[in-house]
Amino acid sequence: MQEHHGHRWLRWPSDPVRPRLGFGADYNPEQWPRHVWDDDVRAMKVAGVNIVSLAIFSWARIQPRADEWDFAWLDDIMDLLHTNGIAVDLATATASPPPWLTTAHPEILPVDRDGRTVWPGARQHWRPTSPVFREHALRLVRALAGRYGSHPALAAWHVNNELGCHNIYDYSDDAAAAFRQWLCRRYGTVEALNQAWGTAFWSQRYSDWAQVLPPRLAASHPNPTQQLDFKRFSSDALKDHLRAERTVLREVTPGIPVTTNFMVMGETKGMHYADWASEVDFVANDHYVVPGPQAFDELSFSANLTGNIAGGRPWYLMEHSTSAVNWQPVNVAKAPGGLARDSLTHVAHGADAVCFFQWRQSAAGAEKYHSGMLPHAGEDSAVFRAVTELGAALRDLAEVAGTTRQRARAAVVFDWESWWTAEHDSHPTDRLRYRREALDWYTALLDLGVRADVVPVTAELEHYDLLVAPILHVVPAALADRLRAYVANGGHLVTTYFSGIVDEHDHVWLGGYPGALRDLLGIRIEEFAPLLDDQCVELDNGTTGILWTDRIGIIDADVEVLAWYKSGDLAGRAAITRRSVGTGSATYVSTRLGPAGLRPVLTDVLDTAGVHSELPDTLRGQVELAVRQSADAEYWFLVNRTGEPRELSGVEGTILYMQQAGDTAAPGVLGPHAVSVLRRRQV
Ligand code: GLA
Ligand code: GLA
Ligand code: GLA
Repeated sequence: MQEHHGHRWLRWPSDPVRPRLGFGADYNPEQWPRHVWDDDVRAMKVAGVNIVSLAIFSWARIQPRADEWDFAWLDDIMDLLHTNGIAVDLATATASPPPWLTTAHPEILPVDRDGRTVWPGARQHWRPTSPVFREHALRLVRALAGRYGSHPALAAWHVNNELGCHNIYDYSDDAAAAFRQWLCRRYGTVEALNQAWGTAFWSQRYSDWAQVLPPRLAASHPNPTQQLDFKRFSSDALKDHLRAERTVLREVTPGIPVTTNFMVMGETKGMHYADWASEVDFVANDHYVVPGPQAFDELSFSANLTGNIAGGRPWYLMEHSTSAVNWQPVNVAKAPGGLARDSLTHVAHGADAVCFFQWRQSAAGAEKYHSGMLPHAGEDSAVFRAVTELGAALRDLAEVAGTTRQRARAAVVFDWESWWTAEHDSHPTDRLRYRREALDWYTALLDLGVRADVVPVTAELEHYDLLVAPILHVVPAALADRLRAYVANGGHLVTTYFSGIVDEHDHVWLGGYPGALRDLLGIRIEEFAPLLDDQCVELDNGTTGILWTDRIGIIDADVEVLAWYKSGDLAGRAAITRRSVGTGSATYVSTRLGPAGLRPVLTDVLDTAGVHSELPDTLRGQVELAVRQSADAEYWFLVNRTGEPRELSGVEGTILYMQQAGDTAAPGVLGPHAVSVLRRRQV
């Protein structure tokens, strides 16, 4: 067991002393006859697999009836893996309750917002707050921990699987009871709840806790604070399940680190992972690329945020795909080179393990068209060859294991509560998408060749010279104070439309928008002015805004206008403003500009903040840079964002790895969409 910066870290397989990057997959041997297992393990060694996640969906196999256990097959495969030097991240197997349990106890099944039961037939059909489910799940966890706690293959515990992927919002009576308890702890009295929820509105006033419900199907817009608290509660309820399993594991096997796979990706937003991170011994994440113009920027954004949720320490990429998935409307295969590029972009942002869903592509079941490391076609396939090459690349990069993220000078601030709240119904527009705005700023920074961290709002923001906090909608007084102090100490803050508007109860800060940030930004807005889908508005810096505009009034002499609206009702009014505060500044962008439109604003504010690209001119925007560091070296990961080869001249360092891509293999040339890793002396 390595202690890693106070975090318990994996015992890496077979060689606990030398650093090593993990490489493997979810492994579901129960889907195959016994003789295939020998073939699996042989092929895993060909590929260089050193760790697998086992038994994730094995509950029905391990416990076929309430009082019948079958560990023989699991003993067999644990032994087989260990004999072959492959470590196991062993699941607690609680993700998918077996039919005997849901038949005996249908009261564990979730209920949706409309009151419909979520029946068995897929997976994760359990109420996070069901005491009956909890009891059965913990019994299984205890049985597994007791049996495998000292098995030499066991490297880590994998709690459940993607908690909340399908069951984040449960509106059952169990949920209602637990929600009331949660609210009672938060508010203490019904009167305080009435205040916080603003129940003077629409005769919603409660006179007893028993009257309070989850936001079930309602006649019109449900109470917004009830909705926000239900989101907070639902994330906490799953966190509580994580803790309950972890408590058993720590009691029975105190030396084995515990994790669970987060889903920092795309629009998966119900679980407040920044709040969960301290509950696990090491952070693990699953990520799937969704096609689109910013697909790879989104991968980088997610990996970056995961690394910062992990406090800059290494984390574990538990799942991604070798090629197509099965759950998008159209499931596109990855282009040649894409597998390594995606994997190594995660490593660039701090992943010390690269794992996939799943090892052997299923022949049956809902995921049979989801790619695996060993596809239907078998070992004689481009995917398996790419997998094997990646295994070799990760061995070449072994010295990177254990190194940490090097902090950037700029950061994009990410806030779950603003994400949840800004997208509520009954708002000025239902078109606003929090994460897309945040991603646009990240893309714009990448386009300018500027390295930026993506950090939760709870991070130590004062370390950054420039903070971009898009749609920072929920601003409690304490956060406003932090931001004021940040700017007063010379920091440069950029924020956007619909920021600073409400407090932690989703109550509007009165006196004019942007509420809690009005004084800091030196502006005042009386009315929102969102745009219709077919409307856009020109700015005098040549950019175009969509979605939103504001009629900005300037209330502070230190505010300068960086860009004016020049079309529509707003012609001649300020669109982008900046207030200087000593050596710091606070910039406001009142419309959605998209990555290209954000570039001029960013160029200006980066200049003011003295933050510059670390890349030579020829690579800026073309290549993404991420940096990891050890005590005496730094590792530059360069990811070619373009379909053209790029010469790396002008970048110092020893080439540790160069992905061969396209026909352009030439010394010092980074192929299309390829990754290179350079070792440099610590500066
Ligand atoms: C998730 C799950 C896996 C599998 C993959 C498919 O990550 O954890 O079990 O369903 O998605 O993409
Ligand atoms: C209706 C209702 C009012 C209010 C308005 C809002 O007219 O009677 O209570 O909700 O809609 O447009
Ligand atoms: C998530 C999961 C996948 C799949 C999709 C469905 O991304 O990881 O397994 O269930 O959701 O949208």
